[in-house]
Amino acid sequence: MAMAGSAVGLGNIWRFPYMVGEHGGAAFIIVYIICCLLVSLPIFFAESIIGKATRKDTFGALGTLAPRQRNVGFVAILASFVILSFYSVVGGWSIDYLIRSLGGSFSGRSIAEAREVFAAMSASSVENVSCMLVFLGLTALIVGAGVEKGIGRFSKISMPVLFIMVVMIAVVSLSLPGAGKGVEYLVKPDFSKLDGPAIAAALGQSFFSLSLGVGTILTYSSYMKEEDSILATGGWTAFFDTVFALIAGFAIMPAVFAAGIEPAAGPSLVFETLPVIFSQMGKVLPVVFFLAILIAALSSSISMLEVVVAWLVDQKKMRRSHAVLAVFGAAALLGSACAVAPRVFSACDFFSSNVLMMIGALAFAMIVGWKMPREEVLRYVRYRFVYWLIRYAAPVMILAIAVTNLV
Ligand code: TRP
Repeated sequence: MAMAGSAVGLGNIWRFPYMVGEHGGAAFIIVYIICCLLVSLPIFFAESIIGKATRKDTFGALGTLAPRQRNVGFVAILASFVILSFYSVVGGWSIDYLIRSLGGSFSGRSIAEAREVFAAMSASSVENVSCMLVFLGLTALIVGAGVEKGIGRFSKISMPVLFIMVVMIAVVSLSLPGAGKGVEYLVKPDFSKLDGPAIAAALGQSFFSLSLGVGTILTYSSYMKEEDSILATGGWTAFFDTVFALIAGFAIMPAVFAAGIEPAAGPSLVFETLPVIFSQMGKVLPVVFFLAILIAALSSSISMLEVVVAWLVDQKKMRRSHAVLAVFGAAALLGSACAVAPRVFSACDFFSSNVLMMIGALAFAMIVGWKMPREEVLRYVRYRFVYWLIRYAAPVMILAIAVTNLV
C-alpha cells in the first residue's frame, strides 16, 4: 500500500488523463501499458532488488553493491529532497483549496474568476509559504511516527479511502449530460496520433508515475519482509497506479466535456477548471476532490522524505525524530524559495525529473544488470527475460527518455 501510495500522486491526476486524450486515447493507453511492462517495471524491480538485497538506505546500499558508484546514491537522495520541496508547494495549494471548498467559496463562480483566485493565491507569498509548511509538517508527522506506525498505517487507511473517493467522483462525472464526449476523448483509439513524441511521453510518464530513480522504491523495499515477492509487489504497484490513473481520467474528463471546456493539464486543470465544475454539483464534491488530491500528494511526499530520513538514520546515525526535523527544516527553506519564486519551482521540477532521476535510474539498472551476480538477480526476478530487460532494454530506454526530454 505504501508503494502504491508513492506511485499514485499528482502525476496520475493532472497529467495522465490529458496525455491519454491528446495522444490517441486507447491507442496511447496500450502503449503506456507496454512501456510500463517492458521498461518501467524492470527498473522498479532493479531498484527493489537493491533495497531488499542490502537492507540499507540508498547511499549505503550502493556503497555495498557498487562502492565506486556510491555517490550516485547521493544524487538520488538529493533528487528526492528537491522533489519533496516543490511537491510540497502543490501539496500546500491542495490544503488551501480544501479549506476554500469547505467554505463553499467556488459555488457560483466562473472559471475566469477561479483563474483570478488561483493567480492571487499563488502570488501571495504568505499564503503560499504557510500552506506549504502545513503540508510539509503533515508529511513530517507521518514519517516521524515510523515506517510501520506512520507510513504503513497511513497508507493502509488512506489508499482505500482515496480509491473510493475517486470512484465516487467518476460516478458523478459520468452521469452528467454530455459526459459521453469525455469518455470518447479518453478511449476512442486513434493510432495516427501515436508518433515518436507520444511514445516518449508514455515512457516518461510511466517512469515518473512509478516514482523511479530517486531511491523511493529502493528505500521502501529495504523494509520488505523476506518472503515478500519483488515481482508481485512491483506488478501490483504498477497495476494499481495505472487503474487509478484511468479512473482519475473518468472522474475528470467527462466533467470537463460536460461543462463544454477544452481539456488541459497541470495546475490550471486542478485549481481553475475543476473546482468550478465540481461546485456546480453541490458542496460535497469539491471537498472530496481536494481531499483526494491532498491524500494522493501526502502519500507520495512521505516516500520522498523517507529516502532522506533513512540516509540520515543509517549513515549519520541520527535519531529518527532528529532526522525528520532536520529534513523538514531544509525542505522548508527550499520549499519557501519554490513557493515565492516560480522560476525556482520550475528549475527544481525540470532538473530533478530530467537529470537527477535519469542518473539514478540508469545507475540502479546498470548495477543490477551488470554488477550483481546473475544468479542472485535471477533469484529475485525468476525469469531470464526480466533479467535481460533490466540489463539491456532499461538502460537504453532511460538514455532515450533523457535525450528526448533534454533536446
Ligand atoms: N509518482 C508520483 C506521482 O505520480 C510522484 C512521486 C512520488 C515521485 N515519489 C516520487 C516522482 C519519487 C519521482 C520520484 O505524482
